[in-house]
Amino acid sequence: MGIIGAGPAGLALANSLEQLGISTVVLEKYSRAHVESRARAGLIEHRTVAFLDSLGLSGRLRAEGVPHASCEFRYRGESFSIPYGELAGGYEHYVYPQQFLVRDLADAYLERGGRLYFSHPVTGVDVDSAVISAQSAADGAELVVECDFVAGCDGFHGVSRQAVPAERLGAFSKRYEFGWLAVLAQAPPSTKEIVYALHEDGFAGHMLRTPTVSRYYLQCPVGDSADNWSDARIWEALERRLAVPGWELSTGPVIEKAVLDMRSYVAERMDHRKLFLVGDSAHIITPAGGKGMNLAIADAQELAAGLRAHYADGESGRLAGYSATCLSRVWQAQEFSHWMLQLLHAPEPGSGEREFMHRLQLSRLSQLRSVPSYAAMFANSYVGVV
Ligand code: APR
Repeated sequence: MGIIGAGPAGLALANSLEQLGISTVVLEKYSRAHVESRARAGLIEHRTVAFLDSLGLSGRLRAEGVPHASCEFRYRGESFSIPYGELAGGYEHYVYPQQFLVRDLADAYLERGGRLYFSHPVTGVDVDSAVISAQSAADGAELVVECDFVAGCDGFHGVSRQAVPAERLGAFSKRYEFGWLAVLAQAPPSTKEIVYALHEDGFAGHMLRTPTVSRYYLQCPVGDSADNWSDARIWEALERRLAVPGWELSTGPVIEKAVLDMRSYVAERMDHRKLFLVGDSAHIITPAGGKGMNLAIADAQELAAGLRAHYADGESGRLAGYSATCLSRVWQAQEFSHWMLQLLHAPEPGSGEREFMHRLQLSRLSQLRSVPSYAAMFANSYVGVV
């Protein structure tokens, strides 16, 4: 199996296949240091943890990650928590930074003798012969890998999706009418639970990463620049939007800030001849709800199961159903992420519907707060049970 990309999808797939006795080669565009320092997601669903458990790959995650089963909503100076773990039948999330998981998966793969070529951008994929061409970033030497199948785990900007004809790929996408300023700061968490705040200035979120580093999100206009957000402006906006009586925000140096393009994209087919698209190469989702990395790893798990059935049992039905199985989960997650955004985002100022929408949001929040079956629906989707 030729695997393009050493992100969560590529490395989960590579480890899983090696354990099944299916040999793999992984080609990654960037250096190991670069790949292991990219701070991105951090919320790991119980299903992802269970998969990593089954591969014996969850040791550090379980030792250093922190289980979470409750989150908080804030609006108009009020707050309430939803014990989503309990409501969803006892499941919980782990908070563990994506780059740590990538490091753990790379370590495990290399320790078992996996062939992982960092700094080898793939330049071409032949979907009929399953031949991959890559080039060493160090000396330009060409590397050609002949495989049975290719897994395109190269993210949204990779090359593998380009090998699928547009009419087969289909593609559904949505661009949201706001951006998110994503901030990573050297600041201890000011909360024990993830906080989602609805405010007339726009959404604010306080996410958790480690005891010394926290992630925050602030709704901002589309096309805004991170340069417009000084540290002082970031902390002032977070303080205002997240405010509830008696609560204090811990601050610290901002390490990273970027305006995210808030969009979603789903390919209609995730396979073409001998190529399978896995994770972000086939679908991207907004960060709302923390689903992106979990979907990527779930794709890898499904593909590994399909390949196992193909090689061990000579049965190709599961592999043939790979795309449909993954897309059903992907659309469920898209719907949830969209629901979260509708719940929490202030419509653009000047929009005639602003007040109407705001009142719908307040009604949703009040139902979440006081109607157990409504909260249970949220909990199941958030945790990823349904
Ligand atoms: N050749 C080889 N590798 C490539 C190429 C290429 N031409 N293009 C991209 N890559 C590599 C990237 O450098 C990256 O390491 O593919 C990897 C893709 O990893 P991710 O973008 O992390 O995608 P995926 O594994 O699907 O995980 C999705 O990561 O970005 C988050 O929000 C996203 O949480 C989601 C998760």
